[in-house]
Amino acid sequence: MKVTVINGTEKHGVTYRLKELFLEELRDVADITEFYLPKDCPSFCTGCTNCISKSESLCRDAAFVQKIDRAMRDADLLVFTSPTYVFHVTGAMKSLLDHFAYHWMPHRPAGELFGKRALIITQTLGAGAASAAKDIRDSLSWWGVPYIRTVALKLLGHVVWDKLPEKRRRALTAGVKKAARHFRAIDYTKPARTTLAVKAKFYAVRMLQARLGKANPEYTDYVYWKTNGWLDRARPWKRGCKVRNVPETAADRK
Ligand SMILES: Cc1cc2nc3c(=O)[nH]c(=O)nc-3n(C[C@H](O)[C@H](O)[C@H](O)COP(=O)(O)O)c2cc1C
Repeated sequence: MKVTVINGTEKHGVTYRLKELFLEELRDVADITEFYLPKDCPSFCTGCTNCISKSESLCRDAAFVQKIDRAMRDADLLVFTSPTYVFHVTGAMKSLLDHFAYHWMPHRPAGELFGKRALIITQTLGAGAASAAKDIRDSLSWWGVPYIRTVALKLLGHVVWDKLPEKRRRALTAGVKKAARHFRAIDYTKPARTTLAVKAKFYAVRMLQARLGKANPEYTDYVYWKTNGWLDRARPWKRGCKVRNVPETAADRK
């Protein structure tokens, strides 16, 4: 099984420790690729919108973003980790999620992501872990990922692992180990079942794309949906559906 881990911090703190405890249970069966933010995607989205309106290859950070994109498409399991900062993910994680706006369903979702499974690991001193996890969940679900689980833990004492009471450390460890056993037991030869929520998003956007295409047949997202056959009978979650993730766009043709 292939696991791609995206860490919202480079710090070897509590989040790192929890992630390591999780991976410990998978190392003998998993091929693991890890990214650390901001190192592996250091710049903010500038809002140029080239990725959305023309091609993701035109992003000034494309070299970083596309490397992570490929690793996500290749993976069986996606793991996102982030401590809670002011009730949300770290700025570095938010910045990466912004870079993937072009993968949101109304634009050009990657066909492979429709069958993926994902885990979000977050922790907080006391409050805000749920909204931090939601930051990541929102993107994952709008990318089409159907199977998303969350481990959101509370430290309730200290933000340094070694200073936590032994009982709390054991409880935190049990939380991530339980998730690891769950993900280890999954048969990854089968893609995750597409949820109603993902299908609802897909069909709503499909109607939108058909309308946009009537107004402008060169519209980048419309060309993408059409090329993939999603406006006809093809569906990204169906087995045997040939996914063309980087079709020729209007921008490419110029
Ligand atoms: C900038 C910043 C903001 C934080 N915001 C919150 C918060 O809103 N709620 C909370 O309970 N803990 C908050 N914390 C604590 C973190 O969620 C976390 O428990 C702590 O940074 C230890 O994690 P780490 O070692 O992985 O960095 C914050 C910490 C930092 C540095």
